[in-house]
Amino acid sequence: MVSLKVNGTTHNLDIDEETPLLWAIRDNIGLTGTKFGCGIAQCGACTVFVDGQAQRSCVTPVSAVAGSEITTIEGLAGKEAEAVQAAWTSRDVPQCGYCQSGQVMSAIALLKENKKPTDRDIDLAMNGNICRCATYVRIRAAIHDAARALEI
Ligand code: FES
Ligand code: FES
Repeated sequence: MVSLKVNGTTHNLDIDEETPLLWAIRDNIGLTGTKFGCGIAQCGACTVFVDGQAQRSCVTPVSAVAGSEITTIEGLAGKEAEAVQAAWTSRDVPQCGYCQSGQVMSAIALLKENKKPTDRDIDLAMNGNICRCATYVRIRAAIHDAARALEI
């Protein structure tokens, strides 16, 4: 039995402790906003927050995060999350959408650490989030918009 706290709710799951967190979130808890892309920590589609830090859930065994506060795209809250979500909507960032929950999680993580990121800061921070639709230009613009909104 593994106990996971996801978006403020504790789930007691009868699963192997080596199960990747991604599959516990999607298959056992039923939150499907977090996506599977590569399964080897190379694409960022599966990004969640573990105790506030962005982490790749596809390579994180549930045993490593029992007792931690896990946040998925469905549980986002706070001013950075609101600013990023508003900017994503206004810039119409997603194309197919598959990578976008991971992109949003990484963008929020960046803005929590860096209130006024440069293009280079954004490129470095978002480097691990792959978008096959190449929405990178809109992602960068939306992060700048969100940073400006947070200044006000
Ligand atoms: S699915 Fe986890 S990084 Fe690609
Ligand atoms: S919007 Fe299609 S993969 Fe990023």
